[in-house]
Amino acid sequence: NRSLRVALLGAGSVGSQVARLLLERADTYEVRVGARLELVGIGVRNLDAPRDVDLPKDLLTSDIDALVDGSDVVVELMGGIDPARALVLRSLERGVDVVTANKALVAAHGPELRAAASASGAMLLYEAAVGGAIPIIRPLDASLAGDRVMRVMGIVNGTTNYILDKMHREGATLDEALRVATELGYAEADPTADIEGFDAASKATILASLAFHTEVPVASVHREGITGVTAETVAQAEKDDQVIKLLAICERVFADDGSESVNARVYPALVAKDHPLAAVHEAKNAIFIEAEAAGDLMFYGAGAGGVETASAVLGDLVSLSRRRVAGGQALHPGVSAHLPVAPMSAV
Ligand code: HSE
Repeated sequence: NRSLRVALLGAGSVGSQVARLLLERADTYEVRVGARLELVGIGVRNLDAPRDVDLPKDLLTSDIDALVDGSDVVVELMGGIDPARALVLRSLERGVDVVTANKALVAAHGPELRAAASASGAMLLYEAAVGGAIPIIRPLDASLAGDRVMRVMGIVNGTTNYILDKMHREGATLDEALRVATELGYAEADPTADIEGFDAASKATILASLAFHTEVPVASVHREGITGVTAETVAQAEKDDQVIKLLAICERVFADDGSESVNARVYPALVAKDHPLAAVHEAKNAIFIEAEAAGDLMFYGAGAGGVETASAVLGDLVSLSRRRVAGGQALHPGVSAHLPVAPMSAV
């Protein structure tokens, strides 16, 4: 019976859930894929770190290079750029398929990773990089490939949505709410990435690049986090029947001469209480897409959290394994650079 050797890198809140589900669902996935997805090892920095899930000790290894080199598929859930970038690149160059949830990596090094994948015929999928459990990468890249997306707008960071929601509905302070969001496994290892909007800016880069078929560098995304949001600004918004939401807005903009470019920005915006985005509570995410032919679309669900995000990771893993087993061609979200990116501008 055929099997694919799966190397999992990282056993944090998402990684430990991916490992658990991969082991529990091995028989089901074998039927779905036509090959056994054999978890050959879990690469971790610290073998003795506490984990959300009890994982078989014999699967844990700190020799990540050897693990990667002995695998057919790499699932990268370490986060951060180094050493994730080198490990993912090396895998793709060797023709090893990669699934990653690493939005910072895809946002900063997407072109390089895609080029390596194209050169070797490896697949690179990253559905979990934006919107946690919400299917959004595949809809943009595939389902809307024949349409003309005008605008993508959404709440793409669960931690800040959780914090702002608690500030509005329970009068919590930013620090209190952040502490709980961290305990619940929503926040990044360094929560500055959440509250200063870096995480949302990475996601805006990924969404804009796919929506507009254009590389949108993260440095071109205007970014403003939520640290300036106080009890007073929340109270004022409430008085005006509004809520503060950290929004990522990516859109086509048109100059007077009719020329077109792309603009992406992240900032705490005032949203009218009767707007559907105002009803996105806790760590939920929601993404609106306005497309020329399709009209308005909305995607909603868990934007953070270990088991929820694991769903998207496993979806990628099963999809690409199935394709590999069927002898399918390489598949990865692609951009083809056809629109200029507007210089950074505030709202
Ligand atoms: N820290 C991220 C968030 C995790 O809060 O949305 C999901 O990318």
